[in-house]
Amino acid sequence: MPNTFQALIENRRTIYSIGKNVKQSPDELTEIIENAIVHAPSAFNSQTSRAVLLFGKAHEEFWDLVFNKLKEFLQNDEAEARTKGKIDSFAAGVGTVLFFEDMDVVKTLQDQFAAYADNFPVWAEHSTGIAQFAVWTALAEHGIGASLQHYNPIIDEQVHAKWEVPSNWKLRAQLVLGSIEAPAGEKSFIDNAARFKVFK
Ligand SMILES: Cc1cc2nc3c(=O)[nH]c(=O)nc-3n(C[C@H](O)[C@H](O)[C@H](O)COP(=O)(O)O)c2cc1C
Repeated sequence: MPNTFQALIENRRTIYSIGKNVKQSPDELTEIIENAIVHAPSAFNSQTSRAVLLFGKAHEEFWDLVFNKLKEFLQNDEAEARTKGKIDSFAAGVGTVLFFEDMDVVKTLQDQFAAYADNFPVWAEHSTGIAQFAVWTALAEHGIGASLQHYNPIIDEQVHAKWEVPSNWKLRAQLVLGSIEAPAGEKSFIDNAARFKVFK
């Protein structure tokens, strides 16, 4: 498939079966991830998106932290074993990108542009979504599998403490990445007629 934009976006899929057979170094992965976020658009070019990149031991410690937090909510051994299996499948990858939005920037914009005050938090959500998609697609272009997870807000406090994340950074999503050990599942699509209206 040629590397047209259409091919690239079709190539990005949710990959749950990930491993450590990644040829890129953490530095190379960092460059891919940072570049995608830097070039993602944001409202008023406010550049509200932030990220914490965890590789190797830090990545594994992150998934330990998630599991230990989830354990507080699990009712029995069976649920614990099921959750452990899922979290281990994420830890099997090579890295995790934690996506944040800088709420201090959002607040400053709200003060500065009172007429749009209600929009800035919404636009920050749009911006993080665009940044997540850009990173996910860029990684896929390099043959790296990923899935998007959401263990916020229950892990926020510990994440902020462990990786010294500024309190104004709000955790929005976690993209876990690694080598593609099994292809993505089947994906269905609703009819275009149900989604689009075209007038010409
Ligand atoms: C906003 C958003 C939230 C998502 N949250 C999760 C999640 O918490 N856990 C998960 O495993 N997948 C999550 N996904 C992945 C979707 O389930 C997946 O993108 C969708 O089924 C389409 O499959 P594809 O990514 O292979 O195209 C999320 C995707 C989006 C866009």
